Amino acid sequence: VPLQHCNTFGIAARAQALVRVHSEDDLRALRADPLWGRQPVLVLGGGSNIVLTGDVEPVVLKMEIKGMRLVRETPAAWIVEAGAGERWHDLVAFTLDQGLPGLENLALIPGTVGAAPVQNIGAYGVELQDRFESLDAVDLVTGEGFTLDAAQCAFGYRDSVFKHAPADARGMGLAGRAVITRVRFALPKAWKPEIGYLDIERKRAEAGVEQPTARQIFDWVCEIRRAKLPDPEVLGNAGSFFKNPTVTAEQCADIIAREPRIVHYPMTDGSIKLAAGWLIDACGWKGKSMGKAGVYERQALVLVNRGNRHSDSASVTGGEVMTLARAIQTSVYERFGIRLEPEPVVV
Ligand code: EPU
Repeated sequence: VPLQHCNTFGIAARAQALVRVHSEDDLRALRADPLWGRQPVLVLGGGSNIVLTGDVEPVVLKMEIKGMRLVRETPAAWIVEAGAGERWHDLVAFTLDQGLPGLENLALIPGTVGAAPVQNIGAYGVELQDRFESLDAVDLVTGEGFTLDAAQCAFGYRDSVFKHAPADARGMGLAGRAVITRVRFALPKAWKPEIGYLDIERKRAEAGVEQPTARQIFDWVCEIRRAKLPDPEVLGNAGSFFKNPTVTAEQCADIIAREPRIVHYPMTDGSIKLAAGWLIDACGWKGKSMGKAGVYERQALVLVNRGNRHSDSASVTGGEVMTLARAIQTSVYERFGIRLEPEPVVV
């Protein structure tokens, strides 16, 4: 089965089998299959945060569970539930149409609702964990359904329990072990605009408004993303390719002494986050290519497919992407002594 149209990089890998899952019943039906529980499984949502470095041995479960609705309210929040297979951006638009703000800073993030908790998506000052209530998942070994709250998901910066194999994270990891079917969000009744991020602040000043509406923030985020990030339909990519690294205050003082213009943000715990895009840019990578893998000319943190993403022979390979990624890691390490960690899941 070709996977080229199931991953936003447009990498032309194949899988042994692909099963489209439209409901919890579909998953239950799979339990009757003699291969269930024995065959490794790869769960795919929109395929927007994955690098396929070769053909895929496991059976691919393509999550297509739909549905979006307001399910209940608490004194503080509206609880909205969405199926794992809904497109993330459609959920953001749906909640705003219902008059329920809270997700607007996360507009236009590619991928699905079910994939969003896996890497705790975040943008412009809001992370999924800030709006998360709970999720339903199915254990791929036992077939049992279960529900997790935020603490059980162990969210971190672009991280959760779903990114760790059961062998790490003290046997608690759920990668390859569980599949997310539905996610519930808590949208605060006492909504306040989140406009601290520099790009948003600029838009607010330009528009000359003090207190923007959620709809205005939604529009600004869409404009900012369209200007900075490539449309995966046109130019294959998986968003930011590396996480923004954190360093201690001492390490940072050291680097600032050498590189006074380095972009850095102090964190509440005293550590300092550096802009990986700036580090890569400073090493001269912006707009460069190796083979058919390239560094986007408007955002050095985004690696792109310079081949033809709709052709299986002329598209970039996962190997080319990883070769470029390693070359970038080496030059950032040699110049700054900082190790960049890939953000997408490398399979
Ligand atoms: N910068 C450069 N050169 C570049 C790229 C960036 O100098 O080529 C500088 C920018 O000028 C800015 C700073 O680096 O001062 C940060 O750049 P930007 O605001 O574009 O954000 P980012 O840190 O590169 C992160 C997330 C994005 C998210 C934006 C907005 C990560 C790994 N990435 O990017 O998330 O949209 O902030 O919140 O945390 C993603 O995860 O796939 C993603 C796109």
